[in-house]
Amino acid sequence: MKFFLDTANLDEIREAVSWGVISGVTTNPSLYAKTGGTLAGYEDHMRAICAVCDGLPVSAESCADTTEGMIEDGRRFARIAPNIVVKLPVCTEALAATHALAQEGISVNMTLVFTVPQALLAARAGARYISPFVGRFDDIAEDGVEQLSNVCAAIHNYDFGHEVEIIGASIRTPNHITQAALMGCDIATVPFAALKKAVKHPLTDRGLASFLEDWKKVEQA
Ligand code: E4P
Repeated sequence: MKFFLDTANLDEIREAVSWGVISGVTTNPSLYAKTGGTLAGYEDHMRAICAVCDGLPVSAESCADTTEGMIEDGRRFARIAPNIVVKLPVCTEALAATHALAQEGISVNMTLVFTVPQALLAARAGARYISPFVGRFDDIAEDGVEQLSNVCAAIHNYDFGHEVEIIGASIRTPNHITQAALMGCDIATVPFAALKKAVKHPLTDRGLASFLEDWKKVEQA
């Protein structure tokens, strides 16, 4: 399973990229708003992220609510950098926009996917990536991991005539990462804080502390 970083924060992206574990970045309007960026600065910010990611796929989300608007945004975003992926929310307008953009060779990440039918329709329309959300199901006391597993099983059953990868999204915990990997999800997009948590384990900390303590005895001997 590959890791994407789910953030628009350039410092977080620089640091995670330096670890050598990141295969792409996903952003959304809420994540961009958190950076304090302006509407006018949006495309420059995406350009900066693409530069840091050096060819890795970077999802930039359109907030248009018509097919024409989404296609227009998609074409404009695609000119920012060759590694831009246009992120569109699953709805009929976006299916049509995905179909048109895919025919022009522009990659789409279809987001806000919660069900198998939504995922199948996204793939049929030509989406290169499909993003089923896990944590938001858990937020309403449903099993997000099970829902993601259903989407993975359904999508991996078929050949859509183009490459389709499932991005487990709304990932909040190391257990979400574990479950996504065990079910064979292609990618998990993980916020920086959750990625840092995933590196840690109390037994690793305890083991390291005792190794360092014992090393002092060697130095003194
Ligand atoms: C997906 O690409 C979204 O950006 C993201 O994973 C949503 O996560 P959240 O539900 O924690 O906001």
